Amino acid sequence: RSGESSDNVDYSDGLSTRVRVTGRIHRLRSQKDVIFITLQDGYGLLQCVLTGDLVKTYDAMTLTLETSLEIWGEMWEVPPKQHAPDDRELHADYFSIIGRAAGDKEAISTRVAADADQQTLLDNRHLVLRGEHSSAVIKVRAAVLRAFRQTYEDIKPSCLEVTPPCMVQTQVEGGATLFEFDYYGEKAYLTQSSQLYLETCLPSLGNVFCVAPSFRAEKSLTRRHLSEYTHIEAELDFISFDDLLTHLELVMCSVIDTVLAHPPTAALITSLNPKFQKPERPFQRMRYADAIDWLREHEILNEHGQPHTFGDDIAEAAERKMTDIINRPIFLTHFPVAIKAFYMMKDPQDPRVTESVDCLMPGVGEIVGGSMRMSDYGELMQAYAREGIDPEPYYWYTDQRKYGTSPHGGYGLGLERFLAWLCGRYTVRECALYPRFACRCTP
Ligand code: 4AD
Ligand code: MG
Repeated sequence: RSGESSDNVDYSDGLSTRVRVTGRIHRLRSQKDVIFITLQDGYGLLQCVLTGDLVKTYDAMTLTLETSLEIWGEMWEVPPKQHAPDDRELHADYFSIIGRAAGDKEAISTRVAADADQQTLLDNRHLVLRGEHSSAVIKVRAAVLRAFRQTYEDIKPSCLEVTPPCMVQTQVEGGATLFEFDYYGEKAYLTQSSQLYLETCLPSLGNVFCVAPSFRAEKSLTRRHLSEYTHIEAELDFISFDDLLTHLELVMCSVIDTVLAHPPTAALITSLNPKFQKPERPFQRMRYADAIDWLREHEILNEHGQPHTFGDDIAEAAERKMTDIINRPIFLTHFPVAIKAFYMMKDPQDPRVTESVDCLMPGVGEIVGGSMRMSDYGELMQAYAREGIDPEPYYWYTDQRKYGTSPHGGYGLGLERFLAWLCGRYTVRECALYPRFACRCTP
């Protein structure tokens, strides 16, 4: 560990500033009489300087990137223009190798990562994670998760964290993307969303949220689809559709404010995405029907190469063009019943459409999907029938409408998509520790 505050610092002789640091060689520059090592541990980078007899040893002459070692020496402050991380340097008087690194794979780890082909990078994700960019995204990810939890605690009324199961026997978002498996002789699935379980928590727990993996058997390889992703979902009781939108806006802005108020995270975001601008509330609201008109006006075609008409899905490409032109967050609302999930509440003013919302962000498109839920028993039974869903396995979900129903709604946010937007990443694959997508389950 580098840094005076770490457990690794040796204070044994009282007054001395002699310290012991451990880490791996991130950068290495050998000259005739001096070796500069940038040591990396999970907490930061530290420049270490070997001079004198130290550089003449066999170990010093055969150092390789990623070798782990301990170094003893004195910490010096150095002027900013010398480009030492945190403007300090360790002047070594002793070092010892802990684990040598083979010279071959190290190239993949950091600097060269940007040029390597996608397959190589993915196969070597465990080494790529040692790079500054990849680890920065994962650090921002941790900060974002902390910020969501903090926000859900602070918001009024607060949301309680629950942990629904991942092994289920019901679908939420359509049968086409279900991962099925054998559960002691019965058919079961990896959950697509925890929403239905969150709804059952409302009566006794109040508003709830969860952070859980969701699974989608997505066969298409796009830059924003994973087979397993981290889903942040919340469910709110006794609300209107407008309350849902206001809450959603508030949560997203609070999370952004929280991460930007933490200087180390703000610095990481700036280095990853220098152009990031925090969104302004209120987000632009646009009804689906108006979006169709907008797409027609801008001559953006549907998946079949035709002008969009009411009832069309707004596919990824069209959605991205739209967000890139508008270039600010959009709440796209009131999607037609036919293209949305069975549980969505119909708009009382126009039963062709639902009280639904997708939040679209520039560069990524949809990062949140949410809606008000059907609260009426009879209507829900009709919705099962319309979608060809057997109501039997959903008895516990249906019961919510039998035992004290309520106007309620919620949403799911894809953490990797949120990060792709925040950190300006090309694909969500860079925002998962070990991405899972069609045909990739390794490492
Ligand atoms: O729009 P979706 O499918 O909505 C639901 O699952 C609702 N039941 C959520 C709810 O209301 N509680 O998914 C929600 C979000 C999407 O907006 C997207 O950000 C993310 O989950 N998402 C994916 N992220 C990565 N890879 C995939 N294959 C994703 N599918 C959805
Ligand atoms: Mg969606």
